[in-house]
Amino acid sequence: MSLKKINIAEKFSLFDDLWSPKVLGEANQQLIKVAKGQGRLVWHAHEQEDELFIVFKGELKLHLQPENAEPQIVSLLPGEMFVVPKGMQHCPEADVETHFMMLEPKSTQHTGSHQTSQTVAITEQKWI
Ligand code: NI
Repeated sequence: MSLKKINIAEKFSLFDDLWSPKVLGEANQQLIKVAKGQGRLVWHAHEQEDELFIVFKGELKLHLQPENAEPQIVSLLPGEMFVVPKGMQHCPEADVETHFMMLEPKSTQHTGSHQTSQTVAITEQKWI
């Protein structure tokens, strides 16, 4: 068990690739991940898992498609967070380079069941 504290800003300085989650730690079967985003990921849903986003820099626009309702965009600024409910279609987008944290179960694929060229398999998501 590591008893070292983690400096989140320092971790963001260690990588530049976009929409590629890095793992910082785990707690209660959940992984704490950080990622940078700019442009769009892909529409997807996590059937069994809620997904928490916390923004540190930039602006994360979460496009949401609730069932039987109009699409919405939740725009998150630094210091703001949002939980995408399980099963809801969503697509993260950022106009400027955006830094954010995610909390999600170990089993969560970041593009849900939607495999694309942007998909990074869970086994390839590096601990930093
Ligand atoms: Ni997602």
